[in-house]
Amino acid sequence: MKDILVKLERKREEARAGGGEKRIETQHRRGKLTARERLEVLLDEGSFEEYDMFVEHRATEFGMADQKVPGDGVVTGWGTVNGRKVFVFSQDFTVFGGSLSETHAKKICKVMDMAVQVGAPVIGLNDSGGARIQEGVDSLGGYADVFLKNVLASGCVPQISVIMGPCAGGAVYSPAMTDFIFMVRDTSYMFVTGPDVVKTVTGEVVTQEELGGASTHTVKSSVADGAYDNDVVCLKEIRRLIDFLPLSAREKPPRWPTFDDPLRIDKSLDTLVPDNPNKPYDMRELILKVVDEGDFFEIQEAHAKNIITGFARIEGSTVGIVANQPMVLAGCLDIAASRKAARFVRFCDCFSIPIVTFVDVPGFLPGTAQEYGGLIKQGAKLLFAFAEATVPKVTVITRKAYGGAYDVMSSKHIRADVNYAWPTAQIAVMGAKGAVEIIFRQDIGDPEKIARRTEEYEARFANPFIAAQRGFIDEVIMPHSTRKRIARALEMLSTKRQELPPKKHDNIPL
Ligand code: HXC
Repeated sequence: MKDILVKLERKREEARAGGGEKRIETQHRRGKLTARERLEVLLDEGSFEEYDMFVEHRATEFGMADQKVPGDGVVTGWGTVNGRKVFVFSQDFTVFGGSLSETHAKKICKVMDMAVQVGAPVIGLNDSGGARIQEGVDSLGGYADVFLKNVLASGCVPQISVIMGPCAGGAVYSPAMTDFIFMVRDTSYMFVTGPDVVKTVTGEVVTQEELGGASTHTVKSSVADGAYDNDVVCLKEIRRLIDFLPLSAREKPPRWPTFDDPLRIDKSLDTLVPDNPNKPYDMRELILKVVDEGDFFEIQEAHAKNIITGFARIEGSTVGIVANQPMVLAGCLDIAASRKAARFVRFCDCFSIPIVTFVDVPGFLPGTAQEYGGLIKQGAKLLFAFAEATVPKVTVITRKAYGGAYDVMSSKHIRADVNYAWPTAQIAVMGAKGAVEIIFRQDIGDPEKIARRTEEYEARFANPFIAAQRGFIDEVIMPHSTRKRIARALEMLSTKRQELPPKKHDNIPL
């Protein structure tokens, strides 16, 4: 018996050694942790239960029969994050470059199946040279199996991808179908075709970093939702994110203890909005002052900064925040902002996370670039996402809510539950000057007349009271009591039930 135990331990040691010391050293030299070290940072100490440690590939071509490493380049299993269950896979770059073989894929599929049945998130740590070249189509089949699991799990359990090394070719499509992608600066990259192919086909000369590094994907392409300086910071932030999320669509988001009084008032909010309507202010300040302990996990912080999206808590329960940012493009909705916010709203709705929307929006961004880029369809995404969402929705208009953007930004008309406005709100078809120049076009040559008309228009329409008379605004609230009003609204809405008409699924304008 003792011999068998010793043998088992030896076999485990062999698997834990991965691709061997030299390759582990190389990994460390590049500033990267190994697959197992990453799981140690990600999961609660001692909570990791590993599966399929002894799985080996079955390939024989190109001398592969003699090259087998137990585990086959991916470490899989489950563990806990602050006591809550998560399933994980962590690709081991020291074993065949973390490349995906038929058996490597089967290991990933196994934990994904378990995650969906049990109802717990899947966190994938990606660090791979792509399809195991020696395996050919078996590897491609393996990828497709993972893709299908991603799609089937979508909306059932949160799926989070962390890119911690190469992720190229068709391999990018598994992360792309998960809910969130995070990257590590300088050590990770994602692209469908690498710099060499790009040069051959288009003649463009780009580096790996320029083509698919963290800054490209968090700022320009919006493929990634966030980037961090190194593996440890990144994994710690993923733990923080998990704390905000429900484990599956079957349950409500977690409620954590909080020391922040939900009835807390903040007098400084009474002077947040400047007297001059063209002067910007930082909407992030409002968010941080309203949510529990100022704790805000921003999603896509570096992309489409004219809208802010992220998770926070009110009375210890998770809320999704969507907010126009007047500091960037005056808070206009454009293609990028609409897409960013629409995807975020849909995630919240999938996972029963109430949505709090702060509105200061002068309209959609004008211009040929926007129209040619399909602003009509892209803007419709956000309208569609807010309208179809059945989670509790609370909206606060702080200043401008003009035109179509007023309707889009979680208005009463598209089923927001509680709509508040600050006294500084201006709910109108457009800004006063623009409106006057249209309806009094004949007076354009007379600046005095135009100024008078503008004043009249402002007095009549640049306020929240006409909307409040119609019941489109439930209450005009004091800015300092915003947290209290939101907390009470969410408490009232905690038992909300709302169904969509029966259908297979909707057809959001993609
Ligand atoms: C098998 C691979 C591999 C792969 C790397 N290795 N990629 N083995 N299949 N795809 C092995 C290497 O042979 C090497 O083994 C070890 O991993 C480390 O690789 P290096 O090249 O030494 O590392 P590095 O210099 O860091 O370069 C990393 C890399 C490069 C940029 C990822 O390895 C690379 O270009 N690999 C090939 C990428 C690729 O073309 N993949 C197929 C893409 S097509 P030893 O024993 O020396 O340590 C694809 C299709 C997916 O993925 C389709 C899905 C639908």
